[in-house]
Amino acid sequence: EPEDLLKTRPPIVTIMGHVDHGKTSILDYFRKSKVVSGEAGGITQHIGAYQVIHNDQEITFLDTPGHAIFSDMRARGADITDIVIIVVAANDGIMPQTLEAIKHAKKAKKTIIVAINKCDLPSSNVDRVKSQLAENGLQTTDFGGDTEFAEVSALTGKNMEDLLELIALQAEVLELKANPKATARAAVIEARVVPGRGTTATVIVESGTLKVGTPFICGPYAGKVRSLINDRGAAIKSAHPGMPVEVIGFEELPNVGDHLTEMKSEREAKSLASERQEAQRLVRLKPQHR
Ligand code: GTP
Ligand code: NA
Ligand code: MG
Repeated sequence: EPEDLLKTRPPIVTIMGHVDHGKTSILDYFRKSKVVSGEAGGITQHIGAYQVIHNDQEITFLDTPGHAIFSDMRARGADITDIVIIVVAANDGIMPQTLEAIKHAKKAKKTIIVAINKCDLPSSNVDRVKSQLAENGLQTTDFGGDTEFAEVSALTGKNMEDLLELIALQAEVLELKANPKATARAAVIEARVVPGRGTTATVIVESGTLKVGTPFICGPYAGKVRSLINDRGAAIKSAHPGMPVEVIGFEELPNVGDHLTEMKSEREAKSLASERQEAQRLVRLKPQHR
């Protein structure tokens, strides 16, 4: 990629941790919204993708359900994630899903930031959480380690600005860049059929600019961007690198983890789609040898 075409892009930050440790609440606080209260039983069922503006810089967050199987999660967000926030409730301490999240974030060599949440609770025990995390390879910079910690409360807002600042600093270190003029490419993080809207997918733009009218290929299917809806539910005309956006215009339900790639024309998209479908058919027809 020619250096001068690269522009700084927002970091993609995935929030992980045990069930009910406050992942969605942290995002709600940043967005001044109330996603949690709209969730059935307060349980996150899917990955939400949202942007927050901090000092004029965009930060893209992926919310994840605490109960999800991590391998599934990984297919969804891990390959595009820059920074993982491990959320641990200060009263509960580390739990099985916390350990899972740490293990996978480390394995994928992601930058990790720890948010010790619920620090407002009288039953919170931050020192205990810190030593539990140290035992699992996450040592706070306060004690000579290399992991940034924030002691927060999504309820009262305590140290929440500090957490955003830590994310912004880590993003700066990572020097994240993308070319907004390149061929558009986006990763599918979620796909579903929405009554009245049809097949839709939430994607994160990786490079280029996704525009209404853009023909594309996604896995073995062609499509054309009919509309783009941002994280606040507003229709938009285009989406730049790092931006999460809901795309309407898929021919078929795409697979999570697939990448959508801009094509020059609908005709080219369709012809590539039939090539790919034919290739898949041949694979299926091939006699299976033991
Ligand atoms: P899953 O998505 O189901 O894994 O949960 P989550 O990690 O997104 O947790 P969620 O944000 O749904 O919060 C769980 C409960 O903890 C809710 O009742 C929140 O109101 C509460 N909670 C979240 N953050 C705080 C906090 O900082 N302090 C206190 N006291 N309660 C909190
Ligand atoms: Na919850
Ligand atoms: Mg949640």
